Amino acid sequence: MARILVTGGTGYIGSHTTVELMQQGYDVTIVDNLSNSSIDVIDGIAAIVGRRPEFANIDCGNFVDLDNVFKTYPDIVGVIHFAASKAVGESVEKPLLYYRNNIGSLVTLLEVMAEHDVSNIVFSSSCTVYGQPDANHLPVDETAPIQKALSPYGNTKQINEEIICDQAHANKSLHATILRYFNPIGAHPSALIGELPNGVPQNLLPFITQTAAGLRQELKVFGNDYNTPDGSCIRDYIYVVDLAKAHVKAVERMLNCNEREQVEIFNLGTGNGLSVLTLINEFEAATGVKIPYSIVGRREGDIEQVWAEPKKANTVLGWKADTPIREVLASAWKWEKHIRNIK
Ligand code: NAD
Ligand code: WQD
Repeated sequence: MARILVTGGTGYIGSHTTVELMQQGYDVTIVDNLSNSSIDVIDGIAAIVGRRPEFANIDCGNFVDLDNVFKTYPDIVGVIHFAASKAVGESVEKPLLYYRNNIGSLVTLLEVMAEHDVSNIVFSSSCTVYGQPDANHLPVDETAPIQKALSPYGNTKQINEEIICDQAHANKSLHATILRYFNPIGAHPSALIGELPNGVPQNLLPFITQTAAGLRQELKVFGNDYNTPDGSCIRDYIYVVDLAKAHVKAVERMLNCNEREQVEIFNLGTGNGLSVLTLINEFEAATGVKIPYSIVGRREGDIEQVWAEPKKANTVLGWKADTPIREVLASAWKWEKHIRNIK
């Protein structure tokens, strides 16, 4: 079977994608510098799948190390590039770190791929490229205009998309699939892998599960005076396992479909927007655990409302995110209980 290189494969989305790839019979080599993940994730993946992915602890920005990986595994037919720094607030504090890591890794990876005639890449982009879409562009589809990024992190995603398009223009054998994720949440149903945020979580669901576990006193809801039905912000929360499956579909299309465009872009979301307050209620209904919360002021830079038009991914990739939200939220709570040893 074909081998896929997964950069950032011990991270949150990369580990779930590795599981789905291996369960579909692919061989996987992970490269990760463990800057935001733990080597134990490999054990979790192996326990779920019944075999271990190959692993190399290297930095994607290091040409020599990456080149050696491609030499060691000449059967690599495609790459899924997750490796990146992703904390929006940190990127505002340390922009150069984000430009070096997120731009440098992609450029190095594309150079090494060209060297080894590996011509398929799936890239992790983000709905952040759309900023706040106009009302007539909600739900947001792939034709909506890209807006000026609100953070260096968001800017690295925009620049990376441009780098991929420029390289594809120059090198007609390169095929790229750019996946724009909405808000990934939840954990594998086994609770053997999941999200491991560093320090105080900035994202909503890890904050909710840590509050449920008693690690945080209360959740602060950032604003209830937005122009939405209940006044809180709206997002498209997508189950990480559904998201992982979309990557397998993207790889299959790149390997098997001759009629595709050289660079294809897909929104990966459910098509449903949920407000912060709705998510809290759904979490309580799914788990029976009450979440203490208070309403505070708006968070700077927050988008009021955005959710995906996922029709293109539904029809072209033959993929749909359809796990019910309560099942997703229950998986997140099962994972939090697992890592905190809560019965
Ligand atoms: P994550 O931090 O859990 O995973 C990223 C992994 O990449 C980590 O294991 C980290 O150690 C590794 N890494 C970072 N820089 C590296 C480098 N130079 N060399 C090797 N390894 C490196 O993040 P995630 O949530 O799994 O996100 C994966 C990708 O999806 C990222 O590109 C992220 O920007 C993108 N994305 C994430 C979200 C989200 O909300 N989680 C939304 C949209 C897009
Ligand atoms: C969701 C909603 C908050 C925490 C970020 C990145 C984006 C993308 C996904 C990678 C918002 C509210 C949150 C809290 C709250 N990542 N909230 N209290 O803002 O959609 O996007 O992650 O590409 O680039 O910016 O996700 O989970 O931070 O927030 O009320 O303690 O929850 O205001 O409305 P966001 P999030």
